[in-house]
Amino acid sequence: MVTKRSTASPYRCTECGWTTLKWVGRCGECQQWGTVVESTESTGIAARKVSPLAPSAGRSAQPITMIDIAATPRRTSGIAEFDRVLGGGVVPGAAILLSGEPGVGKSTLLLEVAAQSARAGRRVLYASGEESTAQVRLRAERTGALHDELFLASETDLATILGHIDEVEPDLLIVDSVQTVSSALSDGLAGHPSQVREVAATLIRVAKERSLPVVIVGHVTKDGSIAGPRILEHLVDVVCHFEGDRQTSLRFLRTLKNRFGPTDEVGCFDMTGAGIEEVPDPSRLFLGSGKPVAGTCITIALEGRRALPVEVQALTVAASGPNPRRVVSGVDASRVAMILALLEKRAGVELSKQDVYVSTVGGVRLIEPGADLAIAIAIATARTEKAVRHDVAAIGELSLSGEIRPVAQAAQRRHEAARLGYRTVIDERAESISSALRTLKATAMAAASTDGVPQF
Ligand SMILES: Nc1ncnc2c1ncn2[C@@H]1O[C@H](COP(=O)(O)OP(=O)(O)OP(=O)(O)O)[C@@H](O)[C@H]1O
Ligand SMILES: [Mg+2]
Repeated sequence: MVTKRSTASPYRCTECGWTTLKWVGRCGECQQWGTVVESTESTGIAARKVSPLAPSAGRSAQPITMIDIAATPRRTSGIAEFDRVLGGGVVPGAAILLSGEPGVGKSTLLLEVAAQSARAGRRVLYASGEESTAQVRLRAERTGALHDELFLASETDLATILGHIDEVEPDLLIVDSVQTVSSALSDGLAGHPSQVREVAATLIRVAKERSLPVVIVGHVTKDGSIAGPRILEHLVDVVCHFEGDRQTSLRFLRTLKNRFGPTDEVGCFDMTGAGIEEVPDPSRLFLGSGKPVAGTCITIALEGRRALPVEVQALTVAASGPNPRRVVSGVDASRVAMILALLEKRAGVELSKQDVYVSTVGGVRLIEPGADLAIAIAIATARTEKAVRHDVAAIGELSLSGEIRPVAQAAQRRHEAARLGYRTVIDERAESISSALRTLKATAMAAASTDGVPQF
C-alpha cells in the first residue's frame, strides 16, 4: 500500500527530474517505468526549509540593454573544426557535453583541444576518471600533446576535482567522463542517474561562476543516446556527438544542441596513430580516381551545413537467375528500387533482366533524396557503358512521374560544385530524368574527342 508522504520529501524521476507528491510507477513526463524514487536531495524547495514565496536577497534583475556582453567573447580552441561546430569558438562559462561510442576517439580529441589551449597560454585541467595520469601522458606523448600548462588529475571524486580547480585555476576544464565521477552529496555509485545529475549540475555551476568553459565527456548507451538522465542534455549549453566508422579513420563531430550557434555544423577529423587531425577541406574524400569511368556520377550532398561532393558508382550485369540482384552500399535500397523503376518506365533504360550494384565511394552514407539524380545517371551510364564527363555533377530528387525536384540549399551546393570545378551541374532545370539523360548525352559528346574515352 502506498502511504501518504509529506510534501517535505517529494518523489523525483531519476531520468528527467520530474517531481510528484505521490509515488507513481511511471514517470508522468518521460513515461519511463520504475524511475520515480523518493528524493533525498537538498535542492528541493521543501529542503530549503523556507517558504517558496519568501523573497530572498540576490542580484536584482537588469534591463536587457544594460547587460554587458563584451566580457564574454568567444575564444578559439586552436582547432578550427572544433570551433566551427561550437558556432565560432569556446564561450567562457559554456558547458559542453561530448558524447560518442566507446573508442571513437573522444579522449584523443579532447587531449588535442587541451594541448592547443595550453600552447595558446591558457591553462587546462584534464580530470580523467577513466584512465591513470600515466595512461593519459602516454597518449599525449604519442599525439604530441605534452605541455606544462596542461594539468592532469586522475580522479573520480567530485570534491577533489573542485579542489584541483581551486588550486590550478584553469582556463579550460575537461572531465572525462561524467559517468565515472561521483559526489558524496548524492546517493548511488558513479554513473547512477542521480550521481550524473549532481556531478553535471555542480560542474556547470562552477563553470558559470568562474566563466570557465567545461567540456564533459558522456558515454552513450547501446542505442546511441547519451547514458544517464535525460536532464543532462537540458543542463548543458552544447551537446556534441563524435562519430565515425570503425573501418575508416574519418570522424565527424556534430552538434545536437547549441545555445551559442547553429546545430547543423559538422567538423571533420582524421584519426591516425599520431592523434587526431582536422580535415578542413573534406571535398576529395568521397571521390574516386577522377577519370571518366562508365557508371559513375558525382552529386553534391549535404553533411550538416557542409556541401560535399560524393561519387556514386553503379554496375549492371546480365542477371544469371530469374530474380535479378539489387545490391546497395551507402545508399537507400528502397530509393534505388524506385529509381530503377523510373529509369525503366520513364527513360526507356532496360534493367529488368540486369543485376544492379550501387555504391558510394569512401563508405559515406548518402540517404538524402537529393542524390536520386546522380544514382539514376550512374545506373543509366553503367547500363550503356558510357562515361560521364569528369566535370559534371548531378543534384536533384526524382518524383515518381520522372520529374526532377529541387533540393534544399541548392545555391550552396551549386556554389560548392563551381568551386571544385564541376562546370556542368544537371539539376531541376533539366525538368525530367529523360531530358536530363539527353542533356548529359549532348554535353558529354562535346568532350568525347578530347578525352578519348567512350562518352555517354
Ligand atoms: N597506439 C595507438 N596507435 C594508434 N591508434 C591508437 C593507439 N592507441 C589508441 N589508438 C586509437 O585510439 C582509439 C581510442 O581513442 P580514445 O581513447 O580517445 O577513445 P575514447 O572515445 O575516449 O574511448 P573510451 O570511450 O574508451 O574512453 C582507439 O580506438 C584506436 O583507434
Ligand atoms: Mg576516453
